[in-house]
Amino acid sequence: MAFEITPMRDDEIDVYNKICWDAFTSVPDSLALLLYPGGYTEAVQKYMRNNTIDSLSDKSTSYIFVRDINTKQVLAVACWSFQTTDLTIQEVLDKEEKARKERAEQEPIPGVDSAVMNDFRETAARLQRENLGGKAHALLKVLVTHPDAQRRGAGAAALKWGLKKADELGVPAYLEASRVGRPLYAKHGFKEICELPLNARKHGYSRDGMNWCMLRDAKVLAQ
Ligand SMILES: CC(C)(COP(=O)(O)OP(=O)(O)OC[C@H]1O[C@@H](n2cnc3c(N)ncnc32)[C@H](O)[C@@H]1OP(=O)(O)O)[C@@H](O)C(=O)NCCC(=O)NCCS
Repeated sequence: MAFEITPMRDDEIDVYNKICWDAFTSVPDSLALLLYPGGYTEAVQKYMRNNTIDSLSDKSTSYIFVRDINTKQVLAVACWSFQTTDLTIQEVLDKEEKARKERAEQEPIPGVDSAVMNDFRETAARLQRENLGGKAHALLKVLVTHPDAQRRGAGAAALKWGLKKADELGVPAYLEASRVGRPLYAKHGFKEICELPLNARKHGYSRDGMNWCMLRDAKVLAQ
């Protein structure tokens, strides 16, 4: 199948979030259902829309759509972020503190379990700091293929799009893989570094969740 990859348009934000929701909740050990136990309500959709709009102002972030080149049907979406310079550990800690303050100031959102969400974000940020040490990198924040379009290469196309940029920048690539994402990432040179647990049981759920931090070394390009 041939693909077309385009940047997300402003009027496609809801399409992006709906594909994310459909893909992330289609797997049995979905983390999404622990983070958003109330389902895909109006309030959750608004929360996701506002988060996406906020991160659009960050010019280091790219949202991309993968379409079937013939039918133009959206098959997969991804969000990549490129940190092109090294940061000191203090600068990373300052960014973490800013994000923590913003979370603390946020009004509760019906349907969003903010305790589980905040725990998970804290752990993810700490592991990212420990694994990357502030070094420049490409970060795959989100990659999903619509459940009806999986195993046709659309996810790999969105992955390769960002890895090409990472290689041009000469930086490593980092991500937090779901159970179903791991084989795809391993196939493209990512190695597992550690587990990223989502400790939901302590917040009253019947199960915990798990992701895996994965790193692909920077490619040394021939001169
Ligand atoms: C993970 C995901 C993005 C893969 O997208 P996709 O478009 O189906 O992947 P591709 O068709 O490009 O797969 C390429 C290769 O990855 C591997 N792969 C993809 N899905 C796999 C699966 N469910 N089990 C095992 N290997 C898989 C295979 O090696 C596959 O090649 P093959 O089909 O020739 O065997 C998709 O399954 C998804 O959206 N899952 C739910 C949301 C999610 O967990 N996203 C990842 C977050 S980190």
